[in-house]
Amino acid sequence: MSKNDKVSNSVIRRLPRYYRFLGEVLSEGIGKISSRELAERMKVTASQIRQDLNCFGGFGQQGYGYNVSELREEIGEILGVNKELPAVLIGAGNLGRALAVHLDYEKYGCRLCGVFDINEKLAGTVLGSMTVQPMSELGSFCENELPVIAILCIPREAAPEVCERLSELGIKAFWNFSHYDITLEKIPGAVVENVHLGDSLMALCYKINNPEKRPDTEDSEQ
Ligand code: NAI
Repeated sequence: MSKNDKVSNSVIRRLPRYYRFLGEVLSEGIGKISSRELAERMKVTASQIRQDLNCFGGFGQQGYGYNVSELREEIGEILGVNKELPAVLIGAGNLGRALAVHLDYEKYGCRLCGVFDINEKLAGTVLGSMTVQPMSELGSFCENELPVIAILCIPREAAPEVCERLSELGIKAFWNFSHYDITLEKIPGAVVENVHLGDSLMALCYKINNPEKRPDTEDSEQ
């Protein structure tokens, strides 16, 4: 695979995991690791790791292994963890409040720059370092702050209209908790990560209910 070929979603999903595991290895004071050792820790095959990293040109040297710090930095660079992409959160209800207060956005490559809700009574509420703003302020806010990502913590029924508005305001990246299906036909050029915590819980229940038909490893992130 050449450096400029497209990369599959499965590879993209494994990158944060590599980044996280390498951080753990580094914090144990280990400076060098073979793909076999890394594979054992991560419960994937060494060839999977090599294949994945080859999508980006490959790292490490045959017979030497990987320099943990360098590899982590390179993967961080690919993920863009230092970019601080501005993100706006829509819907300051139970979920929105939790995400506004408890997530360390800078660690993952973005920066929460605004929180909005249609309920005017919530305007002025302080959530961590953010103050909830009314939706009427969203337009001028976007003109000034140029958010790139929208975090949707609104009910599904509200999402189509909100997505359209956000798209008009230039936002094309959606971290979508609303269960609304954002498609490219609706928002051309959109990039979307749909999050369904319930899917993960159902997968866990499946494993409990079907012990004979579950994978050998207990790691569901592969
Ligand atoms: P909630 O009712 O506590 O909060 C929703 C907030 O959205 C309210 O503050 C409301 O005023 C605001 N809102 C409604 N319409 C809006 C609009 N047009 N513009 C801006 N703000 C608007 O609900 P909760 O518990 O925070 O959940 C939010 C959504 O996330 C629900 O649809 C729920 O089903 C979904 N959810 C999804 C999860 C997932 O894993 N994807 C997990 C938990 C909840």
